[in-house]
Amino acid sequence: MQRQPLVIGNWKMNGSKALVAHLATAFASQPELLGQVHVAVCPPAVLLNAWQQATQQLAVAAGVQDVNEHADGAHTGEHSVQLVAEAGAEYVLIGHSERRQFYADTEARVAAKLRQVLAYTEQPLRAVLCVGESAEQRYNEQTMMVIEAQLESALATVKADQLSRLVIAYEPVWAIGTGLTASPEQAQQVHGAIRKWLENKWGASGAAVQLLYGGSVKADNATALFAEADIDGGLIGGASLHADEFLAICTAAQARSR
Ligand code: PGA
Repeated sequence: MQRQPLVIGNWKMNGSKALVAHLATAFASQPELLGQVHVAVCPPAVLLNAWQQATQQLAVAAGVQDVNEHADGAHTGEHSVQLVAEAGAEYVLIGHSERRQFYADTEARVAAKLRQVLAYTEQPLRAVLCVGESAEQRYNEQTMMVIEAQLESALATVKADQLSRLVIAYEPVWAIGTGLTASPEQAQQVHGAIRKWLENKWGASGAAVQLLYGGSVKADNATALFAEADIDGGLIGGASLHADEFLAICTAAQARSR
């Protein structure tokens, strides 16, 4: 089955209104690119509105980097699924390793956030579940064990008819923001195993889930990564803050649509 290439930019706690305008202008100059590759940008939530205004005429989506696991209530500083959907987010990152590491996103919390997103049907929100192993876990040959445990926990209650709203990003923790990238072979090995895991659980609809690679993807390594059979695109941190780099990465993903 042909899976649409997808590239998502994760600005983390970076960016500005000026960057919103700059990146939107850069995409406006390449409309045919957006016809072949799905592109989404997850700026800080407070810039979501500016991003949407700037990209109104463009086929580029908006997303958020996190969501709260509760539907509403006394959770100062947090955003519910309904709030981010009403603000125009189409993608929600869940379980990014920085949130797991520094903001107490336990396996249980990640699973609850995913449930919230998939249960929300007013608008077609898509969840991007991030999984990945640490350097130590890779060194100890625990990579697949760790990732399968993360999948098992987060996806335990997901139903087959929700899978079209699920994306999985494999992001080895040791490759995020470090300049170290998994080699295309290393990344493919894990992506292939994730796809098999999904297929075993749900058959063809599991195998059709888009799988993104993330971790120091740049213009100069994207083509080789996206050439691998089970890498359907990328989750891009640092390079998504630079219009030329980010567009070059999106262009590299375009090859998968042919
Ligand atoms: P990076 O970040 O591209 O800067 O390594 C990726 C991510 O954290 O999603």
